[in-house]
Formats: sequence, structure tokens, C-alpha cells
Amino acid sequence: MRRAHRIMAVAAAATAAVLTGGSAAYALGNPATAPSHFRPPADSLGALAAPINLRIGNAVNMDKLNVDATYTSLVANQYSTVTPENVMKWEVIEPAQGQLNFAPADQLVSFAQQHHQLVRGHTLLWHSQLPGWLTTGVSNGTISNAQLRDILKRHIFDEAGHFRGKIWQWDVANEVFANSWDPNPLPNGMNGDDFWVSHLGPGIVADAFRWAHQADPHALLFYNDFNIGGEDGTNAKADAVYAWVKSVRAQGVPIQGVGNQGHLDTQYGFSGTRLQDDLARYAGLGVKVAITEADVRTFVETTDSLQTPTDSLALFAQPFEFDQMLKACLALSSCISFTIWGVDDADSWVPGVFTGEGYATLYDTKLQPKTAYTTLQQDLKLSAGAPRRPGPGH
Ligand code: XIL
Repeated sequence: MRRAHRIMAVAAAATAAVLTGGSAAYALGNPATAPSHFRPPADSLGALAAPINLRIGNAVNMDKLNVDATYTSLVANQYSTVTPENVMKWEVIEPAQGQLNFAPADQLVSFAQQHHQLVRGHTLLWHSQLPGWLTTGVSNGTISNAQLRDILKRHIFDEAGHFRGKIWQWDVANEVFANSWDPNPLPNGMNGDDFWVSHLGPGIVADAFRWAHQADPHALLFYNDFNIGGEDGTNAKADAVYAWVKSVRAQGVPIQGVGNQGHLDTQYGFSGTRLQDDLARYAGLGVKVAITEADVRTFVETTDSLQTPTDSLALFAQPFEFDQMLKACLALSSCISFTIWGVDDADSWVPGVFTGEGYATLYDTKLQPKTAYTTLQQDLKLSAGAPRRPGPGH
């Protein structure tokens, strides 16, 4: 009898925590619906990483999920976290001012819940994929800077509020720091020409974190960028992000994570050791770290659509760089997720953006696993000795 009471009390507490957005909300179980009995294959990337509490993810293209059966089963079976590739970006969420379109992102969140996957929200403050009404209004002067600030605040409350309790990690701000080629870096290393920084000043980034935290107090709030994991020669961008995170955390700004995108290219050098050092340095500030958009591109034959590398050495370099990125993450208990950007080579953003390049993901254009897939699978099979990450919510 006492035992039964205890079980009921525990169940009631868990339900209450889910409903109130407590840390149990990360279980993403909806007590109102029947539990899903989905189990991923034991040798999938997600299942192999589960014993050390590392989540393996992918960016999901909502034009294909629940439309293309092979694609959908790969997303369901291989991954334990998902990121919407596009459907949580502002241009999709608010195509006309005041008209909110959460349907495709809601569909992904419910797919994730059914498959016991955690969701990375991406992204609230970014210079790209903004709705036309916003960029046009700013450039023709009908939206003043004061109004722009209010519009951003409203957007963050709308979106983070809508998904409150359902998002594990939010990429609150994306790509605001200057690259070596950007002409107008600010003294703190931010890009002075960034859409948000140029109109609202560098303090807007910390404000975005404050608003996101108010809108969804339990989500882990991330700063996300590329070339901040040892990839650029001087490491200047990583140094600037490190110094900024340190200073805003000292001011009490709610930032709990740094995401290194991990878009690599075999034509440039890459050191897994330097990536690990940079990730460890962020983690030393008390934040989580994650690889958020891993892909490794290379030059490919363009005579057909198979994305065959032009240099046969790329067949080794491409999986090797994936392996180095994963190992850097595995080594650190603060590294809580490793997300690949694109399920297969045909689905990847790379051929459309980097002329003549491709072969960037784990699966070929016919959705067959490549060496990069089996390499990561092998790394995870051997990861029993890697430090265990605290569970979600810690
Ligand atoms: C890309 C998507 O993959 C494309 O489908 C879209 O057309 C453009 O954006 N850094 C980011 C991601 O943070 O959001 C980008 O995603 C890739 C670069």
C-alpha cells in the first residue's frame, strides 16, 4: 500500500513537472497522449551514444519529413536530437507581420516527441533568412531602430514562448561575431556590419538571451557560430566569443551554451586537438558546448549528380574530419550534442552554396551510408570509456 502510494506520488510529481515546464519536461513526454513505444535500432548513432548521455542529431528538412519514407526512417532511427533546418527561422515563422506560422515546426516537435528525440531550436537572432517585410521596412525607414528593437523582443517572446517547455537547446543568437575577412569588427569582436548589431548595438545580443530566458526559463540558451573551434588560423574569432561569453556571464546574462557549427572543408587544414581545446575553454566558463551543424565538404565531379570527390584522398579526409570532430566532443563531458547538418548529400545545403563542392554528409545521394557514417558508428561503439554527460536538465 505504502509502495503504491509512493509510485503514484512520483508519477503525479513527474506529470506536474512536465506540465509546468520543470526539468522533467526534457523527457518530452506528453501525459495526455499514449506513450510511444518507438525504439531505435541498437546500432544507430543515437542509441550507441545513449550510454554516455551524448545526443546525436541532424538538421531536418520539413519538405521531406513524413513525405520521403527512406529519409523519414533515417531521421527517426539514427538520431536522438533534431534541429529544424529552416522552419524555426523568422522568415518561416512570421512571413507577414503578425501572421505566425508554427505549423511545420510543431510537426517536427511532435515527430521528435514520438521518437524520444530532444529538439534544438534554431534560431532567434540571425542576420539571414529574415522576412522581407522586416528587411524592407528597415531599409526604407518605415521601421525605426526603436521599433526594430520592439519587433525583435516580440519575436523572441512569440517564438520561444510558443515552444516553451519543448526545446532542449535554443540557438538564441547566430553568427554575430566577425570573421577575419569582415571589414568592420567592433572592439569586442562582433561584426559591426551585422544586421542586428549595426542597427541596435552590440548589447542587443545579451538582451536577446534575457528575453529568451524569460520566454522559456528551462531551455539551455546557446550562442552559435562557425570558425570558433580552432578552424581559423589565428583563433581570433574563438578568442572574441570566449571573452564575450565570459563577460556577459559575469553580468548574469542567461547563456548556458556555446555551439560550434562545424562546417568543414577538406581543402583547409583542421585540427581536432585545437577544436577540443577551444571547446574545453568555453566549458571552463561553466557553459555546455555542442557541435551543432557538422558537415565536411569537398570538391566533386559536376558531370553527374552523384557528388563523387574529384580527389580520391577526400574519401579519407572527409570521414577523418568527421571522426576528429566527434572525438573532440566525446572527450568532454560538457559536450552534450553532436548534430550533423543534412541527412544525405542530395539533401545538403552545400552544393547550392559552395560552387563545385558536395559529399558533405554521412549518406550518399542514394541515401546509402558512406565511410563517414561507419566511422562515427565505430567511434561511438568504442566510446564506453568517454566521460558520461549529466542527463538533460543538468
Ligand atoms: C542553411 C540551410 O541548410 C539551407 O537550407 C538554407 O537555404 C540556408 O541556411 N549556418 C546556419 C544554418 O546557422 O541555419 C544554415 O542553414 C547553414 C549555415
